[in-house]
Amino acid sequence: MMTRPLPTPRLTPRLTPRLTTRVARDYGPWALVTGASDGIGRACAVELAAAGVNLILVARRAALLNELADDLANRHAIKCAVVAADLAQPDGVAAVLAIAAAHDVGLAVLAAGFGTSGNFIDGDVAAELAMIDVNCRAVVAITHALARQMRARRANRRSGLILLSSLVGFQGVPRAAAYAATKGFVQVLAEGLRLELAPHGIDVLAVAPGPITSGFAARAGMTMGLAQTPDVVARGALAALGRIGTVRPGWLSKGLEAALLLLPRVWRTRMMQQVMAGMTK
Ligand SMILES: NC(=O)c1ccc[n+]([C@@H]2O[C@H](COP(=O)([O-])OP(=O)(O)OC[C@H]3O[C@@H](n4cnc5c(N)ncnc54)[C@H](OP(=O)(O)O)[C@@H]3O)[C@@H](O)[C@H]2O)c1
Repeated sequence: MMTRPLPTPRLTPRLTPRLTTRVARDYGPWALVTGASDGIGRACAVELAAAGVNLILVARRAALLNELADDLANRHAIKCAVVAADLAQPDGVAAVLAIAAAHDVGLAVLAAGFGTSGNFIDGDVAAELAMIDVNCRAVVAITHALARQMRARRANRRSGLILLSSLVGFQGVPRAAAYAATKGFVQVLAEGLRLELAPHGIDVLAVAPGPITSGFAARAGMTMGLAQTPDVVARGALAALGRIGTVRPGWLSKGLEAALLLLPRVWRTRMMQQVMAGMTK
């Protein structure tokens, strides 16, 4: 598999000392982070390592994961395990569940995912179905296994599940119709599980960012004019966990949501059609 150089790491702890303490105390000692080789997952891993939480890092690009794991383990004196797995494949998901079962995982950040764009009718349906496997199927499988595992933890510990939805998941999005649908699925899943799992001490958070600079846009065939950095999402998510059900991290996500908020759903879809016309080829 092709690898590219590790992006310049932002390894400065950005959480407040109080939040760092809360995250480590409530959601340690181990966190599982999917999509940890890049973007939002990687930024979450960096923040969690700085908080002293041990990490299970999951993605396909083993070289990037190993380099990150070595770096974070040395810097923060934490333990890191790496799982190079394709979450579009059942054996990839099984490998993640096996390693999770062998650790006391108090937090999962399920950030692995990708998007597609363009006219649905002209697109490659295999790519759409693979996207559903990674963005939805793997999320359900891992969430289900970890929720059971977390339910069995010591009664005085909290646990957390952070699921990555998106601003696009709140209405139909022409030229990214299937991708937006996968994010709507994740958003609704998280909203339901939040109330269902609360009695078991499991905090569920949906994270719904707007445009973020990461590997996402290139893989999805999108161009982003204005975007925020992944560390904004990581900090926003960890600060919101256990407090609210859905967070729109950063000023850009909040501003875009406010602009759409009062529109009827069909108008939101029309507005997204205009936006995506400018963002996709
Ligand atoms: N960037 C945005 O503007 C934005 C906005 C809203 C929501 N989101 C959501 O946020 C999440 C993270 O996106 P990002 O911006 O961080 O994108 P990114 O930089 O492209 O990172 C995606 C991560 O997912 C992993 N991944 C992709 N396909 C995989 C597969 N088949 N098996 C295992 N891992 C896989 C990638 O690792 P490998 O390639 O090494 O496997 C990478 O670590 C996604 O769910 C996305 O839908 C992103």
